[in-house]
Amino acid sequence: MTEQNSQQSAISPARAAALAAVDSQKSADWWSTAVSDIEPDVIRFRGYPIQDLIRHATFVETIWTMVRGTAPTRAEAALLEKALVAAVDHGPQAPSIAAARMAATCGVGLHGAMSTGVGLLGDVHGGAGQQCVEFLQRLVARAEGGDLAEAVAAEIAAYRERRAYVPGFGHRFHTRDPRRDPLLEAVQDAVDAGVVSGRYLAAALELEAQLSAGRTRPVPMNIDGATAVIYAELGFSAELARGLFILSRSVGVLAHSWEESQSGRRIKGPMPPPLLPTYTGYPERAWGADDSGTAPSEVPAE
Ligand SMILES: CC(C)(COP(=O)(O)OP(=O)(O)OC[C@H]1O[C@@H](n2cnc3c(N)ncnc32)[C@H](O)[C@@H]1OP(=O)(O)O)[C@@H](O)C(=O)NCCC(=O)NCCS
Repeated sequence: MTEQNSQQSAISPARAAALAAVDSQKSADWWSTAVSDIEPDVIRFRGYPIQDLIRHATFVETIWTMVRGTAPTRAEAALLEKALVAAVDHGPQAPSIAAARMAATCGVGLHGAMSTGVGLLGDVHGGAGQQCVEFLQRLVARAEGGDLAEAVAAEIAAYRERRAYVPGFGHRFHTRDPRRDPLLEAVQDAVDAGVVSGRYLAAALELEAQLSAGRTRPVPMNIDGATAVIYAELGFSAELARGLFILSRSVGVLAHSWEESQSGRRIKGPMPPPLLPTYTGYPERAWGADDSGTAPSEVPAE
């Protein structure tokens, strides 16, 4: 044995103990999963051979099967598809899309542009859907065996006391979100066909009616509210509703990132030149000069 080999084979007692403690079963269990089963020449998702899925399943049915474990009915998948179609894009005025487009001009490739856009979707931007599913679930549980209108009134009163907005209602510039009606019509059709119960739809409609009561400008359900009804009716957890929204919005992020990357523009900023952001800080001053009393009110005291 050469000196180099003997140095390589001399492992520490801690490493030797670790190796002895791990058998091949433990190693295989490390990433144990019920989602997919991949072996040489075999690919199964949730137990379904990929050949069957390719031949017979739609993308939406595959999404459902992957996250839920069992296949949806055609009618369930059709309802889910409505929510996924509706949320695909909302233009570059959505910060996630604008950020993705800016990133696309900075040489980070499509993957970098997409992850920039998707990375902005969180509790504040894109989060109302998850919050609305949670809200509807709480509302339906509260109304169970009682009065829905009373439960809604109590929830709204609690929000008003906190001066909070009910997630899934109102919109910055749509007076009536154009996605609301077709989404709710699809839920109603699914209720009529016995595909879903309609409990969450009823709760959301009661919420909408009470939020708008007595107001000249109503507060209609927005995309997040209408898709939350679909996710809740279909039995998705609130967190999965967020994940599915992001999956859908990723299509828009991809399309915008691709379009911007094809423009040939480089390092596109957030506002068109020659516009400059409004400056609210100190006027020009000499380094080392006495600046007492000159701090503009907008500059936070340090
Ligand atoms: C989206 C949102 C910021 C738009 O707000 P906006 O159009 O600026 O609405 P305003 O702040 O001008 O509110 C207008 C009135 O409607 C009420 N209102 C608007 N959205 C409301 C909501 N979600 N819940 C309760 N009241 C609401 C406001 O209290 C205000 O009432 P007032 O006239 O008595 O003061 C706001 O509706 C909101 O935060 N909604 C919840 C979050 C959400 O669903 N986001 C996803 C949007 S797609």
